Amino acid sequence: MCGIFGYSGTKECNDLIFQGLKRLEYRGYDSWGMAVLQGKKIHQYKDVGEIQGSAKLEKLPKGNIGIGHTRWATHGGVTKTNTHPHISTSGDFTLAQNGIVENFDELKQKLIKEGVKFISQTDTEVIVRLIERELKKRSLKDAIIHVFKKLKGRNTVVVLSNNDGKIYAVRNGSPLVIGVAKDGTYLASDTLSFSLATNKAILLENYDMVEIDGKSIEIFNILENRKKNVNTKELKHQFTQIEKGKFEHFMLKEIVDQKETLLFATEYTEKDLEPLIKEIKKGKRVYLIGAGTAGFSAGQVAYFLRNIAHIDAQEIRSYEFKAYLPIVKKGDIVIAFSQSGETADTIEAIEHMKEKGCKVASLVNMYGTAMSRLSDYEYYTNSGPEICVASTKVFTAQCAWGYLLSMSIAGKYRKARMNIKELSKDIAKLFTKKSFDEIKRVAEYMAKRESAFILGKGENAYIAFEGALKIKEISYKHVEGFAAGELKHGVIALIEKGSVVFGIIPSSESEDSSDLISAMEQVKTRGAFTVGIGSKEFSKMDLFDRYIVTEQVDNVSSISNAIPFQLISYFLSVRLGNNVDKPRNLAKSVTVK
Ligand code: F6R
Repeated sequence: MCGIFGYSGTKECNDLIFQGLKRLEYRGYDSWGMAVLQGKKIHQYKDVGEIQGSAKLEKLPKGNIGIGHTRWATHGGVTKTNTHPHISTSGDFTLAQNGIVENFDELKQKLIKEGVKFISQTDTEVIVRLIERELKKRSLKDAIIHVFKKLKGRNTVVVLSNNDGKIYAVRNGSPLVIGVAKDGTYLASDTLSFSLATNKAILLENYDMVEIDGKSIEIFNILENRKKNVNTKELKHQFTQIEKGKFEHFMLKEIVDQKETLLFATEYTEKDLEPLIKEIKKGKRVYLIGAGTAGFSAGQVAYFLRNIAHIDAQEIRSYEFKAYLPIVKKGDIVIAFSQSGETADTIEAIEHMKEKGCKVASLVNMYGTAMSRLSDYEYYTNSGPEICVASTKVFTAQCAWGYLLSMSIAGKYRKARMNIKELSKDIAKLFTKKSFDEIKRVAEYMAKRESAFILGKGENAYIAFEGALKIKEISYKHVEGFAAGELKHGVIALIEKGSVVFGIIPSSESEDSSDLISAMEQVKTRGAFTVGIGSKEFSKMDLFDRYIVTEQVDNVSSISNAIPFQLISYFLSVRLGNNVDKPRNLAKSVTVK
C-alpha cells in the first residue's frame, strides 16, 4: 500500500527510481510518479496504472537525486492529478506521502478559508500547502517539522528540495528505511526495494527526520528535538532476487516454494527459541495476534500451543485488540505474526500491549521492519520475497514455526524437526501434473458457481478460514470457512443442490474425522457437491464427488491441508481470467488503518 523510493548519490537516478518502484509494486498501487532534480529545477513524471516506461518517461531529464512514489488511492480517485509527488506552487519542492492524514479535512477547510486553492483531492496536498504557508516564516526543513507535528495518523513524507538539493523525510508509523551504499543513499518503504544495491540499512524511529544529500546523512528526532547518531545495521538474510523463474505467476511459484520454505522457517535451534520459551513458561497468557491470513496463522499457532504445549494461548485479530485490553496483564506475552512487518492494525495492537507491560515477540518475513523493531524477541520466516498479494508460503511458514515452538515447549524439538522435514517432502506430491489436473477439475466446477463452503474442525478450523480467504481474494467468489460444528446451527440453511462444500478430513486417529464425515453426509443429503481434502483412508467413499489426498504426518497435517486451497484458488483465478498476483482492491502491505 503506497511505496516511497528515493536516491541521492553518484549514479544517475532515473532508472534506479524506476526499478525501485517496480520492486515496490507488490505492495499494491494504482498510479505512480517520479521527481528528479536537474540543476535547480524539479522535473516530474506521473502515470496511472502499471509502472512501465514510455517515450514520455524517457524524456524526463536525468539527474542524481530524486524521489518516486506508488500510490494506492485513499483520498481522491486514480488520476494523474492525484498521483504523487505533489509539487509546490513555486516548484521549489515536491512531496510524496505514505499513510493517511486523518485530520486532513479540518486542516484543508482552514486553508480554504484563508483563500488557498487546491488542485487535487488528496490529503497529501494539504501537507504541501501547509509547508508553503510556513515557508514565509521559516526554512524548508523547519517548515516540514512544523507541519509534520500537526498531522494526525500514521504518515511518512518525503520531500525533494531544489534550493539545497536535498531530500528530507520524516516517518511516523508508515515504513521508511535508509539504504547506505557506496554510490549513495537510498530511501524506501522496504529494504527489498534497494537490496540489489546494499544490505546496509538505517532503521528509523517514529518522528525521525532524515536529511540526505548524497554525501551525508543526518537524523534528527523532531519530537525530542535532538540530533541522533546514525547507526547502520547489516541485514544478514537480505533477499535480493524477485523472479518468477519458470512459473507464469508469482503465486504458483510461491506455492511450490513451500517445499523449502517450511524448512527455512524452522531452522531455529533450541537455543534460538529458548529465550522466548522461558518467557512463555514464566508468563501468564500468550496472545497471538495478526490480521487477515496472518490472523489465521496466529489462530493455528494458538491451537498448537494449547494442544501440544498446554499453554494458555489466545488468538486475537489485531484490529480487535481493544476488546481484550481490559484483561491483558503485565507479564502476558504477545506473539505477532506478519509477512510485511508493517501492518498498521498489528503495530497498533503491539504498541498498546507493550504499554500494558507485555513482552513482545514477532515472526515477520521482511527484514528491517517496524514490527521487529518493536519486539523483545524477533524471529523471521525467512521465506524470501512473497510477491503475490495473496499470502501462501508465509502462512504455512508461520504455522510451521509455531508448531516447532509448541513442540519444543513440550520437549519434542527433534521430533518436530523430523515431522516438518517429512511434511516438506510429502507436499511435493501436490505439485505433480496428476494433482494439478485433479485440482483443476474442482476449480472448473467452482467456476460456474457463485459460492462455496469449507468445513474444518479443531486442528483444521483455521485452515478452513484461511482456505476460504484465499479463494475469495483472487477468484472473487463468495467462499466461507466454518468450524464444522457450526453447520447444524445455521449454515446448513444455505445448502442446496449443487452447493460446493469442502470438508477437511483428518486421519481416523483423530476424533474430528467422524464429525467431519457426518457433517459432509448432512450436506450431501441436501444435494451438495462434496470435496474432501485430507486423509487417504476416506478418499474412496461415495460420500465425496472429488477428493484431494494430503499426507498425514503426526499432528502437523493441518499445514499441508492448506495447500490444496491455495492451488484451487490459483487455478480458479487463472480459469476466470483474473489478475492472479494483483487482485482487485487489495494491497500486499496494509500500512494504514
Ligand atoms: C491474505 C493476505 C492478507 C494479509 C494481512 C496481514 O492473503 O495477504 O490478509 O495476511 O493483510 O498482512 P501482514 O502479514 O503483512 O501483516
